[in-house]
Amino acid sequence: RRYALRVTERTLVLVKPDGVERKLVGEVISRIERKGLDIVAMDLRTVERDLAAQHYAEHDGKPFFSSLLEFITSGPVLAAVVEGPRAIAAWRQVAGGTDPVEKATPGSIRGDLALETGSNLVHGSDSPESADREIKLWFPSL
Ligand code: TYD
Ligand code: MG
Repeated sequence: RRYALRVTERTLVLVKPDGVERKLVGEVISRIERKGLDIVAMDLRTVERDLAAQHYAEHDGKPFFSSLLEFITSGPVLAAVVEGPRAIAAWRQVAGGTDPVEKATPGSIRGDLALETGSNLVHGSDSPESADREIKLWFPSL
């Protein structure tokens, strides 16, 4: 075949400060593993405002942007690169929709464990392009 067949994907996963604070890191790692996804890299770190703004650049100018940066820099986050077949969509399914009540379904992390959009526990890249960009940003050595 001439085209690149993209069987395996990588995605950027974050356990946001609310998840670390609530001691849900183990729960999230467990769900990654139970889904069958591989953890390629993992790092607990406190995010600088600059990295946060780059990570969420698509939301610059929206009403929730400043509170989003405030939130994501408020404490340590667990950042991970997760790999597997259709890992991007698979992880978004495990995480659940952005609004934990209106969109996330029961059984998902957000559906089971979160109440508010502004503190919805986890992040996952939303496309191959986002995943490439975010992984370079968070794990430049990968
Ligand atoms: P978004 O990329 O739309 O959601 P997702 O995390 O599911 O990819 O938004 C990024 C984060 O911004 C979201 O997880 C929580 C926050 N946010 C708000 O606080 N209010 C909002 O109205 C939206 C859309 C997002
Ligand atoms: Mg998003």
